[in-house]
Amino acid sequence: MTDFHVAPLDASFGAVVTGLKLADLDDAAFSRLYDTWLEYALLVFPDQHLSNDQQVEFATRFGELEFDLVAISNVKKDGSVRVEDDADGVIQVLKGNMGWHCDSTYMPVQAKGAVFTAHVVPSSRGETGWADLRAGYDALDAATKEKVATLSAYHSLRYSQKKAGFTPKADGDYNGYGLDVQDPPLRPLVKTHPETGRKSLLIGRHAYGIPGMDPAESEAFLKSLVDHTCQPPRVYHHRWTAGDAVVWDNRRLLHQSCPWDMTQARVMYHARIAGDPASEFAGPN
Ligand SMILES: [Fe+2]
Repeated sequence: MTDFHVAPLDASFGAVVTGLKLADLDDAAFSRLYDTWLEYALLVFPDQHLSNDQQVEFATRFGELEFDLVAISNVKKDGSVRVEDDADGVIQVLKGNMGWHCDSTYMPVQAKGAVFTAHVVPSSRGETGWADLRAGYDALDAATKEKVATLSAYHSLRYSQKKAGFTPKADGDYNGYGLDVQDPPLRPLVKTHPETGRKSLLIGRHAYGIPGMDPAESEAFLKSLVDHTCQPPRVYHHRWTAGDAVVWDNRRLLHQSCPWDMTQARVMYHARIAGDPASEFAGPN
């Protein structure tokens, strides 16, 4: 059996895992790795160099994919670097993702997690950050815990992109996934993890419009929760090296990408693991 090594990050979550090949993992090793993932929420695997097929194969051991593997990239199909034009739908999505968020909370079923791989990295910056919503919840004072227990917020990609200053074009390069949701789901601010039973906050840039609050009060309160969560020891930013792979638990962590010099190529691949409708479904409202 593969005896891999787990080195916790200097944060409330996350670990670097070495001593294994993700492309060649037997069931017993995967079972241990899955338990390690539930414990740490973010696992970083240096020097894996997964092919697209190997990434899909590894990700589907966690569950079915929400959609096919996608490139998160500023390189066009012809190999040229996409010009940093804020009217370009792909640039809009790349920049929108720089705000803290959980994936697919704006869809009826929130994502379970994701496997992300680095293929081409810029010479500096372009990190990905994660923040621990469970530790954020645990660190709230008693009065705020009581307050959030009764509250919900709507989640919308159209809302968050507009707030970031991006109004998507109907004929843009971005395929529009998530932008066409007509009735944004309403999700409680406190989420119970379906596998660990632990509570965490469910917030981020897609969340807005807490029923019972006026829009400004809701914005300010949601921002205060994000600011509270996204500070040490509850954050980690990963500086990518080509060949890195990570897997994170989208039911516990926020994430964001970080700016880089967009004249340089950055090519990542994202396999989004579908959420279990039994625990991740929030119907339209
Ligand atoms: Fe994301």
